[in-house]
Amino acid sequence: MRCVVVGLGGRGQHWVQVCKEMDIVTLVAGVDPVEQRRDEVKAKFGLKDEQLFSSLEEALKAVEVDFVLDVTPPSVREKIAEISLSHGLPVLAEKAMGESWEMAKRIAAMAKSSGLTYMVAQNYRFGALPRTTRRLLDEGFLGVINTVVVGFHRPWGMGAHYVEIPYALLIEMAVHHFDTLRYVLNRDAVRVWAHTWNAPWGWHKGDVGHTVVFEFQDGIMVTHHALGCSVGKADHWQGEWRIEGEKGSLTWEDGKLVYGRSLPPEQATVQELPLDPLPFVDTKAVLVEFVSAVKEKREPECSAQDNLKTLAMVFGAIESAKRKQWVELAELFEA
Ligand SMILES: NC(=O)c1ccc[n+]([C@@H]2O[C@H](COP(=O)([O-])OP(=O)(O)OC[C@H]3O[C@@H](n4cnc5c(N)ncnc54)[C@H](O)[C@@H]3O)[C@@H](O)[C@H]2O)c1
Repeated sequence: MRCVVVGLGGRGQHWVQVCKEMDIVTLVAGVDPVEQRRDEVKAKFGLKDEQLFSSLEEALKAVEVDFVLDVTPPSVREKIAEISLSHGLPVLAEKAMGESWEMAKRIAAMAKSSGLTYMVAQNYRFGALPRTTRRLLDEGFLGVINTVVVGFHRPWGMGAHYVEIPYALLIEMAVHHFDTLRYVLNRDAVRVWAHTWNAPWGWHKGDVGHTVVFEFQDGIMVTHHALGCSVGKADHWQGEWRIEGEKGSLTWEDGKLVYGRSLPPEQATVQELPLDPLPFVDTKAVLVEFVSAVKEKREPECSAQDNLKTLAMVFGAIESAKRKQWVELAELFEA
């Protein structure tokens, strides 16, 4: 399938590289209003002048494409969705699917009425750690699960929109962990309570520290705590996880999967578990899922409709932090 990458910044250039490495797609054009970005892509990846454009409209007049890969900041997401879907083109879009809950709902509605594929690149859930953990939980490895804690502390979001927008860590980073929680637990969040803040030495305009508590289906309680301006020991990008079940715990320790049990004493153990081998992980697996879904005319994993349930966790948390009270996520869908 022929694709145009829209937005050639840090992440856009990663996608250009991925498209070049994957034979299921052919990169035919790149779009960025900033000349320097287009020049970088020309120099690093060998794209030609006639393949580079300053707007998507201009690109679509000049080249034939089969889908659009939107790697612009979330504030631009709706515009790219409008142009792409109105040209009959499926979209693979970076997270977050919009800078606000209202925008995300409009994009999902647009995608639905177009009948075209719209998938959000929630690549974290496509890693071996989440895939293996989900399989184990589905198989009953921990029995009933009840309590989950996820921590994330890193020097995160050093420039661009990450330092400008309010609640950047929730919208642009925790969104991956929230989506992965839905995937790993195979359940959705029902209600949320959140408190956010900023550390005095931080470099973001908005809050990048938070404690968020979710109640998931079946009464599973999940706490996500994070600081995006940490200058201390950096956590793994997937976060440090602890899942408590009746048969022990599964922890994610710096990218490793560990099973632990302390009771009964004769079953006490702490052991690293092997991760399932997967043909593709991360963004390559996202691309495979997107292309397969378009070809098979089925809804992809992380479709716009599905992703609303992830974004309800993000924007529900923001709403809770503002109101200083629990928020029922169903309320967002009713509004
Ligand atoms: N999934 C992940 O793990 C991951 C990692 C990093 C970034 N991202 C996402 O990728 C997106 C881009 O982030 P980034 O770090 O590359 O930001 P960036 O600022 O480096 O790049 C964004 C680019 O989009 C361009 N742009 C703005 N408006 C445009 C328009 N109308 N048409 C075409 N291009 C336009 C900008 O000029 C800029 O070059 C964000 O949504 C971010 O959340 C995802």
